Amino acid sequence: MLSRSFFRAATQGTRQSGLSRAASLAGRAPCASSTLPVQGRRSISVYGYTQSKALVYSKYGEPKDVLSLHKHSISAPHGTQVNLRLLTAPMNPADVNQIQGVYPSKPPFVSTLGTSEPAAVGGNEGAFEVISTGAGVKNLSQGDWVVMKKTGQGTWRTHAQMDESQLIRIENKDGLTPLQVGTVSVNPVTAYRMIRDFCEWDWMRAGEEWLIQNGANSGVGRAAIQLGREWGIKTINVVRQRKTPEETEALKQELKDLGATVVVTEEEMLTGPFRDMIKEATRGGREPIRLALNCVGGKNATALAKTLAPDSHMVTYGAMSKQPVALPSGLLIFKNLVFDGFWVSRWGDKNPMLKENTIKDVLQLTRAGKFKDIPVDDVKWTWQTEGPELAESVQGTLGGYRSGKGVLTYTGGDE
Ligand SMILES: NC(=O)c1ccc[n+]([C@@H]2O[C@H](COP(=O)([O-])OP(=O)(O)OC[C@H]3O[C@@H](n4cnc5c(N)ncnc54)[C@H](OP(=O)(O)O)[C@@H]3O)[C@@H](O)[C@H]2O)c1
Repeated sequence: MLSRSFFRAATQGTRQSGLSRAASLAGRAPCASSTLPVQGRRSISVYGYTQSKALVYSKYGEPKDVLSLHKHSISAPHGTQVNLRLLTAPMNPADVNQIQGVYPSKPPFVSTLGTSEPAAVGGNEGAFEVISTGAGVKNLSQGDWVVMKKTGQGTWRTHAQMDESQLIRIENKDGLTPLQVGTVSVNPVTAYRMIRDFCEWDWMRAGEEWLIQNGANSGVGRAAIQLGREWGIKTINVVRQRKTPEETEALKQELKDLGATVVVTEEEMLTGPFRDMIKEATRGGREPIRLALNCVGGKNATALAKTLAPDSHMVTYGAMSKQPVALPSGLLIFKNLVFDGFWVSRWGDKNPMLKENTIKDVLQLTRAGKFKDIPVDDVKWTWQTEGPELAESVQGTLGGYRSGKGVLTYTGGDE
């Protein structure tokens, strides 16, 4: 392997990226690679390159149609660059919407990975391990775990080269798993901020105030249940009915085990007895429902809003039913309800330090056993895994009634 100083000297005075520079030094396209076998099963590339495979798209469409696996080389890091290996990256609904081209933020299609057409790497969230650092890197070392500072950095790749400024270091990874770290920065942060920033809870009344939410079985919903439990906020949780009453009961019980106070199905919420049930649970309204979290829309959202106490807030952060939010005017006129929206990507970009601290808080709860893992459908990604298999897993993300969130776990080592 050539030394890091050689590499720095070789790249001085150019504005080429490490990737394309590495490729031209080797006299070949960045996606092609030759490797020199070393002892054992691992091999190391010429000039210290790391091989990477990235799940990329060059046009918008359904994941199964537009995602492909692209192999390329990553140079040794220089300056403040860091080379990373994927641990775990989830497949969130927004990731799929982004690939479909229907999400407001769209990572630019670029040519830096040597794809035949400009492309973007899928995925926005994930945990990576630092495998090497450039000489100018100050705050990261080999073996550290990191998450992305911003969304849109492309996490569905076995290896990546990023600047240290794009990464958040996990201060103390002891007692944490890659899954916990890889899924902390979107859903738990969203739940945390919505509960803390949109409602002035009366902390003297801990245990006497409520929030109501739909999509309660989602990653965000499960986080909201557990944070509510920790912060003395009771929760009414709306889920979709399962195929059999037994399965519905099992789901309700699972959420109660996390700390949910009440769990109802959407069908139960849309019928008459629901009002009586709410009245009884909230002691005739003496325990106010002060916040509604809505990721569904349509009739479901309207029903949620109707339960709120005067001067309360409903925060919309998703639109899983694809139905608009329709509100009776009386809720605005006579109850003075406030309807807000929340988008963690924009919030995180504006509040980077607060995002880091929120992540720390959630991981602290996780370490203490107070924040349970989401159920997952773990997709093992090895060096041999084919692109269509990964693309099919991504395609299933919006399917609904899933047993767990799809996560990509890389187990392939370095090539
Ligand atoms: N605004 C933000 O900053 C932000 C951040 C994170 C997430 N989100 C949004 O929050 C929502 C949940 O995300 P997540 O990652 O937590 O989800 P997730 O864990 O992948 O779960 C998806 C959830 O959506 C529910 N769902 C799917 N289709 C539905 C439909 N037609 N009607 C009602 N519910 C439906 C599913 O219910 P079943 O279990 O019944 O299938 C499940 O609970 C998504 O809309 C996502 O885009 C927004």
